[in-house]
Amino acid sequence: MIQVNPLSDTNFFAEVTGADLKRDDDEQFAAIKAAHLKHGVIVIRGQSMTPDDQIRFSRRFGPLAIHVLEDQLLEGHPEILLVSNKTEDGRYVGLPDAGRFWHTDQSYEEKPALGSLLFAIEVPADGSGDTWFCDMTSAYDALTDDMKTRLDGLRGKHIYNHSHENFSLNGEQQDRLPGYDHPLVRTHPETGRKALYLGGKLLKFIVGMDETESVMLLNDLYGHCQDDRFIYKHKWRQGDLVFWDNRCTMHYAQPYDDKRYTRHMHRTTVQGDRPA
Ligand code: OGA
Ligand code: MN
Repeated sequence: MIQVNPLSDTNFFAEVTGADLKRDDDEQFAAIKAAHLKHGVIVIRGQSMTPDDQIRFSRRFGPLAIHVLEDQLLEGHPEILLVSNKTEDGRYVGLPDAGRFWHTDQSYEEKPALGSLLFAIEVPADGSGDTWFCDMTSAYDALTDDMKTRLDGLRGKHIYNHSHENFSLNGEQQDRLPGYDHPLVRTHPETGRKALYLGGKLLKFIVGMDETESVMLLNDLYGHCQDDRFIYKHKWRQGDLVFWDNRCTMHYAQPYDDKRYTRHMHRTTVQGDRPA
């Protein structure tokens, strides 16, 4: 029996128990899809999936995106991005520092990710390496009317050109990603609700705005989003599959002691629409 228990005081972030994603079951999928749209972020507990199981379940939400970092994809399963600090022959097998700042996935693409599904296969024994999530629908709703009017029609330029801790994108990868501009406020195509759409380090500036003004406005917005009532801090358990809706949430990977602990996860990414 599937149960959905909200873990935050608002409708944001819920825990789903009683699911077995190895089963390709329409009723189970319908219940999870409803929870995903209602809550923005869900954690489906206690999973033990193969890569094929995860890909099959993820595909039910839409076509999967293949991440630009081809060296960090699971061999034989390019739909899976390895978020991992495991090493082989002295080299990381995946991306140990995925998103250590507030962001939303693939915002630098024309059609950013609808959602990402991150499956925890191994988590640090000391309980570190949380992921923080921010409810951008509630954050938008809580803005003053003046601010909502000010944001109306503004667009931000998103570019993926930063370095990771252990490598940078190569020239060819960067050439494939010229960046895109997207509205700062988008309307969720399925729920019809408005949400702030920011990108942290990947959101470089507000299009057509003086630089100082752009920096100040973005800082105001990030500051506004830092309120505890919008944020949920997820503590991972082995077997968690966390599914976040990139259209109405941001997330932030917290550091952990990666010399001492292994954190090994498989991520699938569902492609979305052009934000509007
Ligand atoms: C990601 C990401 C968060 C984490 O995979 O897109 O941001 O805590 N991961 O690893
Ligand atoms: Mn991310």
